[in-house]
Amino acid sequence: MAYLSTDKVEHHFHDVVIIGAGGAGLRCALQLADANCRVAVVSKVLPTRSHTVAAQGGMNAALGNVSSDHWHWHMYDTVKGSDYLGDQDAIEYMCRAAPRMVRELEHQGVPFSRLDNGTIYQRPFGGQSREFGEGGQASRTCAAADRTGHAILHTMYQQNLRAGTHFYDEFFALDLMMDDNGCQGVMAWDIAEGRYHLFQAKAVILATGGAGRIFQMTTNAHICTGDGGALVLDAGLPVEDMEFFQFHPTGIAGVGPLITEAVRGEGGYLLNGEGERFMERYAPTAKDLASRDVVSRAIAVEIREGRGCGPNKDHILLKLDHLGAELIMKRLPNIHELALRFADVDCTKEPIPVLPTAHYTMGGVPTNRFGEVVYADGDEKERVMESLYAIGEAACASVHGANRLGGNSLLEIIVFGRACGDQVLKHLGEKQYHPKLDPDCWKSGVARVERWLSGAPEQDDSVRISGIRDEMERIMQEHCSVYRNEAVMAEGVEHLERTAASLSSASIKDRGRVFNTELVEALELENLMGLARAAASGALARTESRGAHARDDYPERDDEQWMKHTLASIGENGVKLDYKPVRTVPMSVDSFPPKKRVY
Ligand code: FUM
Repeated sequence: MAYLSTDKVEHHFHDVVIIGAGGAGLRCALQLADANCRVAVVSKVLPTRSHTVAAQGGMNAALGNVSSDHWHWHMYDTVKGSDYLGDQDAIEYMCRAAPRMVRELEHQGVPFSRLDNGTIYQRPFGGQSREFGEGGQASRTCAAADRTGHAILHTMYQQNLRAGTHFYDEFFALDLMMDDNGCQGVMAWDIAEGRYHLFQAKAVILATGGAGRIFQMTTNAHICTGDGGALVLDAGLPVEDMEFFQFHPTGIAGVGPLITEAVRGEGGYLLNGEGERFMERYAPTAKDLASRDVVSRAIAVEIREGRGCGPNKDHILLKLDHLGAELIMKRLPNIHELALRFADVDCTKEPIPVLPTAHYTMGGVPTNRFGEVVYADGDEKERVMESLYAIGEAACASVHGANRLGGNSLLEIIVFGRACGDQVLKHLGEKQYHPKLDPDCWKSGVARVERWLSGAPEQDDSVRISGIRDEMERIMQEHCSVYRNEAVMAEGVEHLERTAASLSSASIKDRGRVFNTELVEALELENLMGLARAAASGALARTESRGAHARDDYPERDDEQWMKHTLASIGENGVKLDYKPVRTVPMSVDSFPPKKRVY
């Protein structure tokens, strides 16, 4: 193997390496670069193509510009929305910080939509209440029309260019360099040039986004392959709560792109095949603005019971034409375009066909509220892994628990991007020098690529990665969807394990080094597979219904047995599950104890 020699590996030194250039990575990079750190952002795509760009409806903060509001009510809604699996210290921290973070973004240049009095426009979103659920619907979601993620991502990128962050675009992270003192850096592959790069750093931050591509039908871009979680699994560390996967109620039927919850926030509603506003039956108070798990399940039941729409009764309709073309073009212009492009529907005149679609990875790399990666070490369930951090959708802080509220994702990336940056600054004060590396530390990263490019003896040219990927997505979609049960999931887990095993003999056709997209897909499939296995096994083991994990055979939440987080790691004998308690004690206020969740 000609490439196994260090003269072919370019060695870089940075204070901090951030993997991923979405909103979380860029907000964190900004905090560090503004403090004069030498920060590298390593991203497999150009930063402004990161998936934050696709976030539509907005960012939650109790500004109270439209309805009365308070961060404590936001905290209550988030704990309730999480079905009491969220860690309440992290949730309090996030909700308290939210108003300050939105104002900071405004000052950094995010072009939020405005009310007539000049303050930031806020719309109602699902699961938002006032006075701890007693005072009706809040309007808490700060929006830039329906392109809020786009506005935030571009602003963060521009701020980082100003601050002098170093960007390594179209570099694929291959392997974390771990030793007894934690994480020392990352090996990466320059996709365009086909060369290896070793990034040595005093801190490594995973900000790689979600893993929606484990499913067949998803709102997630092709790049959402859970790369950070996979790096952590490869390092022998666990991922947390991967069985909790959010299905957004309104993906465009048959294709997947997101139709924002903002449509319902602005007054749109769902109709079944009988023309009925069926959400009134499932959530008499919040109706179409119940939390996402509730709405997605309601749609699944309507379709299952034969009240779907269209010739095959296989979707539901989202009606918004009554809002009028002027409001739609002002507040929801992107939706108008998406519906035209992907469903051939002019939504100012007709409803949009929609279906629950895999949207958000509630689980991820376990962290505390400072972004430090934690793992279980015997009885110590939250031991900090030195110099390794995770933020945003890649991480599990866990502020979303079993079900995330819409609008809390853009909030999370900004709040914890900043908090992690501050924590890393403290760490850098103690770790002033780059330690000596193990001379072989680059080898496993290189071997990961060479195994695909060299046509290793075990490779079988008839086993293609595209077929394996289709199979994995199909298994997850059919066996681990909105409703789950023992028999269907057990079959899925067995099938998935066989499919995962077939990866070791798979091959790719393109053996070139320069911009080899088939190689990138093979690496991404390896990443997805580990996370799919963790998600499926965790789901099979959890014998209760909570948030997005809804089981026909265990329809009730079981707080006695299951108010705990799943930790899944992968060893020689397959997926290994462990558990740790939920952090029910907030930072400064009283805990919200579990109660029945109704909307
Ligand atoms: O519906 C939406 O606009 C999605 C927002 C979110 O996932 O937070």
